Amino acid sequence: MKLFLDTANFKEIEDANSWGVLDGVTTNPTLLAKEANGQKDYKQMLKEICAEVDGPVSAEVVSTDTAGMLDEARNLVEIAENIYVKFPCIPAGLAATKAARAEGISVNMTLVFSPAQALLAAKAGANFISPFLGRIDDMASGGMEILAQCIEIVKNYDFQSEILASSLRGPMHVVEAARLGSDIATMPYSVFTQLMKHPLTDIGLQRFIDDWEKARKDLGA
Ligand code: E4P
Repeated sequence: MKLFLDTANFKEIEDANSWGVLDGVTTNPTLLAKEANGQKDYKQMLKEICAEVDGPVSAEVVSTDTAGMLDEARNLVEIAENIYVKFPCIPAGLAATKAARAEGISVNMTLVFSPAQALLAAKAGANFISPFLGRIDDMASGGMEILAQCIEIVKNYDFQSEILASSLRGPMHVVEAARLGSDIATMPYSVFTQLMKHPLTDIGLQRFIDDWEKARKDLGA
């Protein structure tokens, strides 16, 4: 499973990337707005992220009509080769997906909350389909079950789309998505770092270091 970071914070991306296992980044208008400080415009922010990451970087349109979405998409892909344009899962977004794919623009269909929407996104030719697990859970529904159904549909018909588990809230969301065979999972930096944490690793490491120190002389180290 490919691991993406769900952030527009450059420091978080740089740090996660230094671990050597980062495959891409997803941003959205909210995440870019969080980093706004009047110093850099959003295009500059995306450009720096695209240069840092060796993989897809998703950037979202804010238009809600097909022509507007396509205009934004054409501008966004000028920023860098690894930009994937996020279109919302609405009829205008489906039409934009079909047209953008015909132009060779890579698409991430976002705001997907049901397997029916995933089926439509796959038929429109989206490269990535993003079911929002956490937000589905927030509505007292089963996000993981929706993810499983999206994966099943894409596999049944050999669609080329990849399922991108999104809106993940904790490390178990990532583990469960991996068990279900999700192609990709995108997560906040806090969740990414939690994936690595285990108290027994820290305790074990400290014990090895202490034991080595105690016997260092006798070991000739
Ligand atoms: C990613 O592409 C989505 O925009 C993101 O995962 C949404 O996460 P949230 O529900 O925590 O805002």
